[in-house]
Amino acid sequence: MSGTLEGDVAIVTGGSRGIGRATAVAFLEAGARVMIVSRKQEVLERVAAEIGCEWFAADVGDRAAAEACIDATCSRLGRIDILVNNAAASPHYGPLMELDQRSAERIAQVDQWAPVMWAQLAWHAAMREHGGRIVNIASIGSTLVQPGLAYYNSAKAALIHLTRQLAAELGPDVRVNCVSPGLVRTDLARPLWEARGDEIAAALPLRRLGQPEDIAAAILFLVSDAASWITGQTLVVDGGGSLGSALGQVSDRPQPPG
Ligand SMILES: NC(=O)c1ccc[n+]([C@@H]2O[C@H](COP(=O)([O-])OP(=O)(O)OC[C@H]3O[C@@H](n4cnc5c(N)ncnc54)[C@H](OP(=O)(O)O)[C@@H]3O)[C@@H](O)[C@H]2O)c1
Repeated sequence: MSGTLEGDVAIVTGGSRGIGRATAVAFLEAGARVMIVSRKQEVLERVAAEIGCEWFAADVGDRAAAEACIDATCSRLGRIDILVNNAAASPHYGPLMELDQRSAERIAQVDQWAPVMWAQLAWHAAMREHGGRIVNIASIGSTLVQPGLAYYNSAKAALIHLTRQLAAELGPDVRVNCVSPGLVRTDLARPLWEARGDEIAAALPLRRLGQPEDIAAAILFLVSDAASWITGQTLVVDGGGSLGSALGQVSDRPQPPG
């Protein structure tokens, strides 16, 4: 995809590590100029120097900080063509009966409202003038009833619906899509893959967990011209996990003849 984003300016929230950092690298390799956003300034400075991009320290749920980042992107890079709403919060793990209001409000603020707020700001500041592409990052958990992550998963389900709504409202000049990852080896999911990574990978049709680059490749496709007739869609990137566990059983696999 080298050169496919030449001339584009992209904002990647949560761009200092994991899926966001891999996405920023993929965009830079495709020729875009990139603004990465996260909360820790010292990490941002180091990463931006390593990969060669701009940085802005902001909590994505903070409207004043988001506005300042949009302004800084326009003044430093001249335009905004691409927004990747990737940062997420998951402050609670446990049954709904133990979810406290503060955690619930934080999940709703960061995982559900912030992507809409950043889309509003990017649209008003730039995309309304010249079009653009927005990609929201959901989770395969949005389709599951799971112990522990119910409210986070419900915010991700809402984000998939909001992606469809935004696509309808912002077409034809702005395309809005979503990527729904399965389990990826990042800090966010570390407790899960450190404890059960081999077992989970063995049950996947593709027999491995995701790497941040697997998700970045899907995001790059959705913002590229190769996806110019795709909007409002959610691309599941999960090693085939959502096909169902029966398909992932080693004992059920067809064996090669001989
Ligand atoms: N990893 C998986 O298995 C998996 C599966 C499904 C979906 N996802 C989704 O993929 C996306 C990326 O996750 P990841 O696994 O790459 O996570 P990660 O490695 O933990 O990275 C999260 C990034 O977001 C930033 N961030 C967190 N909260 C923020 C906030 N309130 N404001 C601004 N930046 C914030 C972090 O930096 P600071 O902490 O310095 O702010 C970091 O740059 C998320 O939307 C997540 O829900 C991940």
